[in-house]
Amino acid sequence: DKGGWSSFMAKEISEEPEAVAKTILGRVHDGAVTLTDLDPIADRLQQVDRVIVIACGTAAYAGILGKYAIEQWARVPVEVELAHEFRYRDPVLDDRTLVVSISQSGETMDTLMAVKYAREQGAQVLSICNTQGATIPRESDAVIYTHAGPEVAVASTKAFIAQGVALYLLGLHLATLKGTLTTEQIAEQVAELEGLAPKLQQTIEDASGIAELAKWMADTRSVLFLGRHVGYPIALEGALKLKELAYIHAEGFAAGELKHGPIALIEPGQIVFVIVPSPRDPRSLHPKVVSNIQEIRARGARVIAIAEEGDAAVLPFADEVLRIPLATPLFEPLLAVAPLHMFGMELAAAKGLDVDQPRNLAKSVTVE
Ligand code: BG6
Repeated sequence: DKGGWSSFMAKEISEEPEAVAKTILGRVHDGAVTLTDLDPIADRLQQVDRVIVIACGTAAYAGILGKYAIEQWARVPVEVELAHEFRYRDPVLDDRTLVVSISQSGETMDTLMAVKYAREQGAQVLSICNTQGATIPRESDAVIYTHAGPEVAVASTKAFIAQGVALYLLGLHLATLKGTLTTEQIAEQVAELEGLAPKLQQTIEDASGIAELAKWMADTRSVLFLGRHVGYPIALEGALKLKELAYIHAEGFAAGELKHGPIALIEPGQIVFVIVPSPRDPRSLHPKVVSNIQEIRARGARVIAIAEEGDAAVLPFADEVLRIPLATPLFEPLLAVAPLHMFGMELAAAKGLDVDQPRNLAKSVTVE
């Protein structure tokens, strides 16, 4: 039931804040994170010295996002790999490796095969899944369920954000176990997690102009997305949504990579979305991203910046600015992704396409 919305995807984007709230519910208390979901692997978790995240599609981009948070907080090295590549390259695994699979459906065959393989090799497997009792969680040592609710539209939206939140909870849990963050530092991150849902609601409400933007771009043949650090997986996610939904050639790049190749693609009129980090953090990459914007602007690109409220530095160089509420650097991407989800949907709608059922795609791919 679309509940009055024009598509399941529109409904599911509107449910992104709720997906966040439900995924942290019962897992944070008094500034601390308690993941009883991890009890089945608790005795081995202390020894974990490496995390490998495996997933496909959107879920793999959530994995890249999680890498930044887990490494920063828990000081454990994290690799992220597409499940189908991982499975067939003879990866080095042992009983101190924690393999984290991410799957909305819990039925993706590529991910399932990788999970089975990792366990055969002696790794412990934790799965992040949105579907209770699906095959992947049944084949895993432990499960963190994302409580995003059923997702019907083929392109994943609310599940992506819930997967990011689940990985952040895992990062804080590991940091608690390993003592890499103080109680106060953990409490600060928990407060950010608790503040996320209302900020996401605000972001979605503020982005109502996106439908107009999408109409203006309905004939566009190519769109690029740039992001740095945690903005990078969001650039990949923004591009994937345009491929899946609007059948437009789209690519996401790490902004620092621009001068090593992609800048050659910039010609007058090229539309480029740029995810701009907050200027408030002393170690912020904001000046570097603004300079990237200047470089592409000078070559005629049309820039759509996603930047926090009050960031005036982007105004002289951007054709459009989509605003997100203030958040700390690791939490900005979970806000910035919502306007990109909306943009993919609105562009598909502006082209008269089926937003929920794009051609050639299936919600759950149960063949290798
Ligand atoms: C693809 C879907 O086939 O599978 C994507 O079209 C999805 O939207 C990917 O991200 C992974 O699916 P799942 O269920 O394993 O998260």
